[in-house]
Amino acid sequence: MRDEIKEVLISEEEIQQKVRELGGVLTKEYEGRFPLVVGVLKGALPFMADLTKRIDTHIELDFMDVSSYGAGTVTSGEVKIVKDLNTSVEGRDVLIVEDIIDSGLTLSYLVKLFHYRKAKSVKIVTLLDKPDGRKVDLVPDLAGFTVPDAFVVGYGLDFAERYRNLPYIGVLKPEIYGT
Ligand code: PRP
Ligand code: MN
Ligand code: MG
Repeated sequence: MRDEIKEVLISEEEIQQKVRELGGVLTKEYEGRFPLVVGVLKGALPFMADLTKRIDTHIELDFMDVSSYGAGTVTSGEVKIVKDLNTSVEGRDVLIVEDIIDSGLTLSYLVKLFHYRKAKSVKIVTLLDKPDGRKVDLVPDLAGFTVPDAFVVGYGLDFAERYRNLPYIGVLKPEIYGT
C-alpha cells in the first residue's frame, strides 16, 4: 500500500502535535458547556478519535454520514444524509469534526441543517483545509493544515475507500488514480 504514495505531505508526528494543540484550544472553548461533538463519517473517524482524547472537558459524541462524493475524485455537488444523528441539536453547542474541507458543500449543508434544527452554536474543526477547492463560501473556525489542490489520502481520507488507515497524509502516485 505504501509504495502507492508519492510523498508524505504531513507526517504522523506533525498530525499528532497539531491534534494536541487543537485539543487544547477546544478544551478552553468548551469548558463547562458539554458540547455535542459530531464526526462526519467516514473520513473524520481517525481525527475524531484522536482529537476527542485531547479535549479535557465533558463532551457528548455523535456521528453523521453525509456523502457528496462518488467512488472517484470529483465531487458530484450533491449532499445526501446516509445516517442522521441520534441526538437532538436543539439548544446545544455543536462542534462538527471533519477531515477535510474541499468545495465546502458538505459542511455548508450541515451548518445550515444544524441552525435550522435550532442548535445554540455551530462550529467547525477540520484537520485539513483546501481553500482552492471552494465552490461555496465556508471558513472553518479551526483548521489544522492548509493543503494544496492535490489528491491527498490517509488519516481518514480515501481514494475509492482505500488508504483511510494510513497514519499520515500523503499524495497518491498519479498512476494509481489514473485518468
Ligand atoms: C469527503 C471528506 C469531506 C468532504 C469534503 O467525504 O471526508 O467530508 O468530502 O468535501 P467537500 O468540502 O467538497 O464537500 P466523502 O463525501 O468523500 O465521504 P467519506 O468521508 O466517507 O470519504
Ligand atoms: Mn467525509
Ligand atoms: Mg470520500
